[in-house]
Amino acid sequence: MDQIKHEINQRLAELLESVKEGKVKDAMKYSLLAGGKRIRPLLFITTLKAYSIDYHPYLDIACAIEMIHTYSLIHDDLPGMDNDDLRRGRPTCHKQFDEATAILAGDALLNQAMNTVLQVPIDNGLKIKILSRLFEASGANGMIYGQQQDLYFENRSATIEELNDIHKHKTGELIAVGMQLAAFIANENDYEIWSQIGFDLGLAFQIQDDILDVTSDSETLGKNTGSDIDNNKSTYVRLLGIKDSQNRVDLLFKKCYENIYALRINHSVILELLTIILKRVN
Ligand code: IPE
Ligand code: IPE
Ligand code: MG
Ligand code: MG
Ligand code: MG
Repeated sequence: MDQIKHEINQRLAELLESVKEGKVKDAMKYSLLAGGKRIRPLLFITTLKAYSIDYHPYLDIACAIEMIHTYSLIHDDLPGMDNDDLRRGRPTCHKQFDEATAILAGDALLNQAMNTVLQVPIDNGLKIKILSRLFEASGANGMIYGQQQDLYFENRSATIEELNDIHKHKTGELIAVGMQLAAFIANENDYEIWSQIGFDLGLAFQIQDDILDVTSDSETLGKNTGSDIDNNKSTYVRLLGIKDSQNRVDLLFKKCYENIYALRINHSVILELLTIILKRVN
């Protein structure tokens, strides 16, 4: 897994080289190359590997997913959103630079993601399918909708259904999309089951994040703890407490494992990644 992560990081750096020199480029590099677990591109790549497909021709698609994710984090941290100071163990983008630069760097990463996928040398039909789904997942009916609802439910209490809907969109969409895009490439008949796995994993991932915001420390997490409490967010921990939230995480992972075992694929690499996520401390 470390080797693949290394390849992703190297390629991400290369994909920013063509950007004109200036503060925006510096901020894009600062946030994108600051570390990060690279879970979303790894999910795309390990799903391809599960079908014994060489991922190298598709590496830039993995990088595009990570660019969109990093943009979402830069904007999520802005004063108008979660107003956080620490990200990936460093000052957030708007703290290191300034708000205008952070906004532009986020916008630029989103655009760079589109340009990156456009230039991948694959069949145009497949490319359009990939672009449509990727930008649906990140768009106004996907991640952005989730972020809107997350902000709406600050200082309001969400029901568990409403909370699941927030988490599905703000986090589930960008977690599921890698598996879905890999299914487009590898075997479309498995698209629905990968969607199910992706959204279950995405919900589990955000519940874990809600738990870590309360139980971890900023050194381990690389971001400030207590952010959700400060912003009076609707979270799993607030609704169910830590123990029941952890039970939900465990159940969702169990479901993911079962669905993965039901597929006729090489299970080992994708299961290795799932176990890394299950045990995550940051
Ligand atoms: C953080 O995502 C935002 C959430 C959806 C919880 P990650 O926990 O994947 O953050 P990085 O990419 O590793 O920094
Ligand atoms: C963020 O959720 C989801 C995104 C779309 C970025 P959080 O606001 O809980 O993520 P962190 O805790 O700041 O990483
Ligand atoms: Mg947020
Ligand atoms: Mg946040
Ligand atoms: Mg959080």
